Amino acid sequence: MRLTIIGTGYVGIVSAACFSEFGHVVTCVDIDANRIAEYNAGHVPIFEPGLGDLINRNVKGDRLSFTTDLAEGVKDAEAVFIAVGTPSRRGDGHADLSYVFAAVRDLAKLVPEGCVIVNKSTVPVGTASEVEAILAEVVPGKTVHVVSNPEFLREGSAIEDFLRPDRVVVGVSSESARKVMAEIYRPLFLRETPILFTDCRTAEVIKYAANAFLSVKIAFINEIADLCETVGADVKGVAKGIGMDRRIGNKFLNPGPGYGGSCFPKDTLALLRTAEQANAKLRIVQATVDANDDRKKEMARRVIAACGGSVEGKTIGILGLTFKPNTDDMRDAPSLVVIPELQKAGAKVRAYDPEGRPAAEKMLPDVEFVSNAYQAVEDAAAVVLLTEWNEFRALNLDRVRGLLRNPLFIDLRNVYEPEDMARAGFHYISIGRSPAGPKEAVARPAAVTAA
Ligand code: UDX
Repeated sequence: MRLTIIGTGYVGIVSAACFSEFGHVVTCVDIDANRIAEYNAGHVPIFEPGLGDLINRNVKGDRLSFTTDLAEGVKDAEAVFIAVGTPSRRGDGHADLSYVFAAVRDLAKLVPEGCVIVNKSTVPVGTASEVEAILAEVVPGKTVHVVSNPEFLREGSAIEDFLRPDRVVVGVSSESARKVMAEIYRPLFLRETPILFTDCRTAEVIKYAANAFLSVKIAFINEIADLCETVGADVKGVAKGIGMDRRIGNKFLNPGPGYGGSCFPKDTLALLRTAEQANAKLRIVQATVDANDDRKKEMARRVIAACGGSVEGKTIGILGLTFKPNTDDMRDAPSLVVIPELQKAGAKVRAYDPEGRPAAEKMLPDVEFVSNAYQAVEDAAAVVLLTEWNEFRALNLDRVRGLLRNPLFIDLRNVYEPEDMARAGFHYISIGRSPAGPKEAVARPAAVTAA
């Protein structure tokens, strides 16, 4: 089939590469000429494992191409996917739909009769109806079908998520659109991936409800972790024990410094705004957003407490800056709260991240960025592991201990085991487990006492 993707950001480029891998002929259109030039020169301006190879293979196979020319890009399209950004609108947290609506206005006259326009961007409930209204105004009488097909990709494993999803959700309002979408996703259907057809509003709510539910799970286990610390239980065991109940499931129960990234913070806020407008109460989502905001600050208080109540003039070594591993994305990363809080308390921060440095340099002033984990910990009063990159899972612990001024290791991702770290000579503080190492040198985490 001939497909067009509008917008070559994260979701757009991953979708385009994967649809072409299915065998469809895909044209990507973007107004950013630099970005299109980069793709045409074989460069991938986004860090995502496996994406470069997938693009190159399909470009060589003549199934994937890039252009800034919208008219050319959509003229034969059977379906046009809109994958432009929907950032949080400044001030009110609503999703900003101006890019989506501008794209629809631009392409309405250019698409062929009978074309399917698919919202792949994360858009609030009712957006498909608004797109239909724009089409009725710009091209009255023309048959164009509007579909809502939300994306559930995780950064760092987006290709795998696209090619082997748990399910595909498609909101349609006509039988012909349903047929086109079934044909597009036929390769997945052959692999027995369930494809759930709904109406557009239901599909739109599914996307936000899924992200909100996952956020709730994380905020929940983070609070259970705090409880475990006070009562002397082990949150890893608790997560395992509850996760074995299939009604709960074992995923997204890793406690940490709070969720970040391009989706959960933005989408939970947008969902709250939608609920407000609809006069519906989403108290659990509101509590999740509040708990997650607090948590990031709480992590800085915890580091300060572990350092004996003050970090004034001390160097703190930070391992990991991105919101999670295998991405260079810094959006809403816990590091953006934890590091400024430590700096406010007088700490000097030295940091290392395998991929996040270019973005982090623009967002985190007065941090000394270094090029490996060992440089980050040299002469530091403590090391704080903030993002669980694989290369931090097998550090040379003797070397780390030897380089640190104090052997204080604060692991906000539970990468290591308390007994191993005590044996390696560290005062080790992690999440939801009792501190390990010589007790007198370890202050209780601030979470226990903070209001
Ligand atoms: C998420 C959704 O998973 C995806 O379906 C949606 O399309 C976009 O948002 P992403 O933001 O890429 O994907 O990352 P994800 O792996 O879900 O992690 C989000 C945040 O939650 C990260 O900050 C991560 O560290 C945190 N997290 C995740 C936890 O703290 N604990 C967990 O158990 C899982």
